[in-house]
Amino acid sequence: MTARSVVVDRRDDRTVVRLNRPDVRNAIDQQMVDELHEACAQLEAEPQIALFIGEGGTFAAGADIAQLRERRSTDALRGINSSIFNRIHRLPMPTIGLIDGYALGGGAELAYACDFRIGTYQTRIGNPEPGLGILAAAGAGWRLAELVGEPLAKEVLLAGRVLDAHEAAAVRLLNEVVESTELEPAGHRLADRIAAQAPLAVRLTKSIFHAPREAHPLIDDIAQAVLFETEEKFARMDRFLDRRKARA
Ligand code: COA
Repeated sequence: MTARSVVVDRRDDRTVVRLNRPDVRNAIDQQMVDELHEACAQLEAEPQIALFIGEGGTFAAGADIAQLRERRSTDALRGINSSIFNRIHRLPMPTIGLIDGYALGGGAELAYACDFRIGTYQTRIGNPEPGLGILAAAGAGWRLAELVGEPLAKEVLLAGRVLDAHEAAAVRLLNEVVESTELEPAGHRLADRIAAQAPLAVRLTKSIFHAPREAHPLIDDIAQAVLFETEEKFARMDRFLDRRKARA
């Protein structure tokens, strides 16, 4: 039986998705892409917060260069990595990338597709694709500028600048930097904070955040109309009001 390239650990209120090719620094090959699609299908069917992490002290050292070497124009047009990273970006509930060690090329693009990124002091993140004669076509070309602004994105994309943890945290590309041993606990602490919110409110807020400009404010009002009728809203607001009454 072939080993799983992606190990999915579904818990009560969150799913941990582990990239599992440590011998090749979690290089993203077709099997890993296929298994990430399977994980996404489950997270779409039954939405949960998702944490993405790499096994073995590396997040992911990019697309598998041996496979990439053999891909031709028809493969590029299939958007193998761009499709999976877009799917991850659009997952209904928030996603957290836990980035130890290298996140290069497609590994960086997977990290950029997450809603949050937590790093370690060993994190190195960048897009060396032009050094291999190709471009970062799976999100970095536009998503990185949205995350860090054009000047730094161009240093990364055009001049091979690899950011260390300190640099990435300074521009908030990493929300937090911790020791490697603290990486998963830090991810779970952030997941705990998200999980303490009303799940549907979080889910709709994420969708609205990424809705096109022209969809606002109608889409916000419609989502709010849905939330205004939920039991959870009444229960949460009653709890707040009752606490105040009890104190008065
Ligand atoms: N694709 C395929 N194999 C990869 C890989 C990738 N993207 N990244 C690493 N590997 C493999 C290496 O070939 C090596 O395999 P081997 O043990 O059979 O020789 C193994 O992973 C370990 O890599 P190594 O380079 O020895 O580890 P390192 O810790 O010294 O360096 C990196 C780690 C990430 C700096 C280095 O592996 C690297 O530069 N990888 C390519 C990064 C890249 O250009 N990504 C963009 C792709 S578009």
